[in-house]
Order: sequence, then C-alpha cells, then structure tokens
Amino acid sequence: MKELKDRILKDGRALNETVLKVDSFLNHQVDAKLMYEMGTYFKEYFKNHGITRILTIESSGIAPTAMTALQMELPMVTLKKQQSKILNGEVYQTTVHSFTKDMNYELTLSKNYINANDKVLIIDDFLANGEAALGAARLVEEAGATVAGIGIVIEKSFQVGRGKLEAKGYDVYSLARVAKLGKDLIEFLD
Ligand code: G4P
Ligand code: NA
Ligand code: NA
Repeated sequence: MKELKDRILKDGRALNETVLKVDSFLNHQVDAKLMYEMGTYFKEYFKNHGITRILTIESSGIAPTAMTALQMELPMVTLKKQQSKILNGEVYQTTVHSFTKDMNYELTLSKNYINANDKVLIIDDFLANGEAALGAARLVEEAGATVAGIGIVIEKSFQVGRGKLEAKGYDVYSLARVAKLGKDLIEFLD
C-alpha cells in the first residue's frame, strides 16, 4: 500500500533496529482517513475468501479493523487482553507470550461472538513474532471456526512472525513489509 509506505517514511521513526514508532497516525493519534484506505486494501485482497467475521486485538488493531469491517459490511469482534473474571465456560481464553514486551497476557473471546461456521479474518496493527496472531487463531479454532486469513498493517519481515503463520498454513497479507530498521533508516521489502 503506497500511501502507507509513504506515511511511514514521512512520519514513522525507527527507534533502533527492531522498533518502529508510528504514534502520529496509528498507535496514539489515529489518521481515520488512512485507516479507511487500509480497509479498501484488505477488502480487495480478502473479498473472495468467504469471510463472515473480523477479529482484532485491543487496542491498536481496532481502528484499521473497524474501517475494514465497515467496508466489508461484516461484524467485528475485539479480543480482550485481560483474564476474564468469570471463567464459567462463557469464554475461550489462551495465554500469549509477548517477546517484545517480555510478558504473558490472556487473550479472551466470548463464545457469544463466534460460531463454528464462521470464516474469520484476523487483523492487527503489527506483526513481529506472530504470537498475538497465533493466539487469536487458537481461539478461532477452539470455537470450531476457520481462520480464513490474517491481515497486518505493518509487518516486520525481519522477525519470525510471518514464517510462523505461514507454517500453520495461514494466508498472510500485509499492507507494508519492513525489511530493515536502523538509526534514521526504514527499508521496505519491495
Ligand atoms: P507478536 O504478537 O507479533 O509476537 O508481537 P509482540 O508480542 O512482540 O508485540 C507486542 C506489542 O508491541 C504489540 O502491541 C505490538 O503491536 C507491538 N509492536 C511490536 N513491534 C512493534 C513496533 O516495531 N512498533 C510498534 N509501534 N509496536 C510494535 P500491544 O502493546 O500488545 O498492543 P496495542 O495496545 O499497542 O495494540
Ligand atoms: Na497491537
Ligand atoms: Na501496539
């Protein structure tokens, strides 16, 4: 997505060789028009995948996913990152390890908002080590539903996430693929 890559070059900042700050349009301040444009790309790529529901993970995945759900006219569900206080069989829950943050968290999905016949598109803002997306996929599959695709806004292609998702057979589509980061350096794959 050219508009996104241009915006990353203009307003993004590589903190070091692994972290890309995009607070001015994605992670803190949000450019809604750019999010809407992202939705047109996700819709175009996934339009023939039979998607019935779109899942994201709080919080930065919500804006681009909502715009995609609006364009695809599909329900959107946000996975919560805290443990459910009522573990009464009403939720699917899985532990995710974040290598970037060196911590574990519980990803939670209410059984009310997914069905066994759903074909689910998972969307998130960043793909690093792939653990969040894999956790989301585990919840979908625990519900008996199908992961029909994974949409990523910014993929850090120098990290292992895409490889892990592809090894599981998932169709991964990223709007921007970052090949290399460094001090004052941002390079894309294509
Ligand atoms: P993984 O799911 O791919 O394994 O990612 P990881 O746990 O390593 O990432 C932890 C958090 O850091 C995620 O946000 C992810 O979006 C974010 N992140 C990873 N790499 C980058 C980066 O280079 N730049 C920025 N800006 N963020 C990055 P989170 O804290 O879990 O959620 P959210 O509330 O921000 O959405
Ligand atoms: Na995120
Ligand atoms: Na984030």
